Amino acid sequence: MAVQRTSRQEHTIQPTKTLRDNDVFEQTLRPKRLSEYVGQGEIKGHLLVHIEAAKKRNEPLGHTLLHGPPGLGKTTLAHIIAYEMESQVRVTTGPAIEKPGDLASLLTNLGAGDVLFIDEIHRLRPVIEEVLYSAMEDYVLDLVIGKGPTARSMRLELKPFTLVGATTKAGSISAPLRDRFVQTFKLQFYSHPEMQQIVERTAGILEINIDDDAAERIAQSCRATPRIGNRLVRAVRDFAQVNDEKCVNIKRVCTTLDSLGVDDRGLDRTDREILKAIIQKFDGGPVGLSTLAAATSEEEQTLEDMYEPYLLQEGFLQRTPKGRIATRLAYELLGMAIPDNAQSQLFG
Ligand SMILES: Nc1ncnc2c1ncn2[C@@H]1O[C@H](COP(=O)(O)OP(=O)(O)OP(=O)(O)O)[C@@H](O)[C@H]1O
Ligand SMILES: [Mg+2]
Repeated sequence: MAVQRTSRQEHTIQPTKTLRDNDVFEQTLRPKRLSEYVGQGEIKGHLLVHIEAAKKRNEPLGHTLLHGPPGLGKTTLAHIIAYEMESQVRVTTGPAIEKPGDLASLLTNLGAGDVLFIDEIHRLRPVIEEVLYSAMEDYVLDLVIGKGPTARSMRLELKPFTLVGATTKAGSISAPLRDRFVQTFKLQFYSHPEMQQIVERTAGILEINIDDDAAERIAQSCRATPRIGNRLVRAVRDFAQVNDEKCVNIKRVCTTLDSLGVDDRGLDRTDREILKAIIQKFDGGPVGLSTLAAATSEEEQTLEDMYEPYLLQEGFLQRTPKGRIATRLAYELLGMAIPDNAQSQLFG
């Protein structure tokens, strides 16, 4: 079971194993406090109130569920919550908690007011979830020790704590678990000005000189997602560096995006292949997820988590009970004429 403990002072994940290059990069850029966290105004507003109220009552913050597509800032926010509560955070993931004993060891090691962050909380095993219910509700752990006629139950008192859960699949969380969260926040895609602010912040931290219009172009092309914005800044920096350029200008950004196959709407080759497959292989849809995954050689989960949310948000794709449909915008993007049979589907 992988658990990482972070301290109030440093507040970066202590590596229990060698962190990958990308992990280190993300941690360097992760805002530490709520005031540095760009956008998500409504969530920040609520959190400020709940955090201040909890601190005044000298209680932990209520259990908090964060959901939304990858790279929008759930993990970042979980750490910020702990930082703002002036508490410590323990980090784990749903699949890493294999046995009730694993959960017991995590929970009994929490101090009063600490945050337990469970990433991918939709992947918790049902047997673990059940143990978690009483811990969340009453700060007690009811464990069954042994098996068969000699089995006995044991109750352990816990210190009051905050569970922060994160998931890209809120729909996969069981109703009893969902109901035990005091607040649930859905992270939204970022607007262009918010993304520009994030891109400029990242460039500042990485000590890159970037022109305003160059930052704006990255902000438009990053699928409204900070993680992608940060990766594009990094890519652009490398291209500028090998060309001995001191400042990143719009030309450098455009050539980098071109070479990565990213267009000015932020769509990459895979996005376009998905839309093309729906149109060319399935007459514009509807097509089921598994069939579409097979046709594009992508994993179902990758399609659903990484690609669909932005295609849906930007109106290139529609989800219907019968499957996915390419919209008029998708045909326009790919420069394809809408066939008669799809016309009636799209325009009623
Ligand atoms: N609101 C924000 N302001 C500034 N930077 C942000 C913000 N949200 C996210 N980031 C940046 O984006 C990166 C990715 O964010 P994070 O890891 O929190 O996403 P996530 O929602 O947990 O993704 P996943 O679902 O893949 O776990 C972070 O390293 C951080 O630098
Ligand atoms: Mg995360």
